[in-house]
Amino acid sequence: MSILKPGVPVGLCSDHAGFELKSIIEGYLTAAGIEYKDYGTDSTASVDYPDFAHPLARAVEAGEVYPGIAMCGTGQGMAITLNKHQGVRAALCWDVEIARLAREHNNANVLVMPARFTSPEYAISMLEVFLNTEFAGGRHQHRIDKISVK
Ligand code: RB5
Repeated sequence: MSILKPGVPVGLCSDHAGFELKSIIEGYLTAAGIEYKDYGTDSTASVDYPDFAHPLARAVEAGEVYPGIAMCGTGQGMAITLNKHQGVRAALCWDVEIARLAREHNNANVLVMPARFTSPEYAISMLEVFLNTEFAGGRHQHRIDKISVK
């Protein structure tokens, strides 16, 4: 079942390495009638991924967007930065089953993808699974409750 929340757009961000994949995902979301808010970047000119990860993370924490979708070359920089935010559970996914388990077990609220290490078609497959897999709760909620260090 869809995890999208009525009236709440999906949030997107990338650096230059993820820009083309982000554009493809924007096209997919538009075709699917899914609202989104883009936090940049807006070209393939070299930029620093934290400048885009932090605004997306703050928007996810504030409930302004849900879920987030982030891309950089490897996905590592985005995931590392996003997960500095206490309210963010960003999952770096390179496999459809990992994307499914990131939702089912970890209640991930940001999907991170490695733009230089996945095809657009496979990225869309991961996105579709991520957007349509509910959190299982139960013992997994108990574990998530232990993540925060605040
Ligand atoms: C950019 O060259 C690259 O370092 C960045 O996209 C990302 O892979 C960093 O984690």
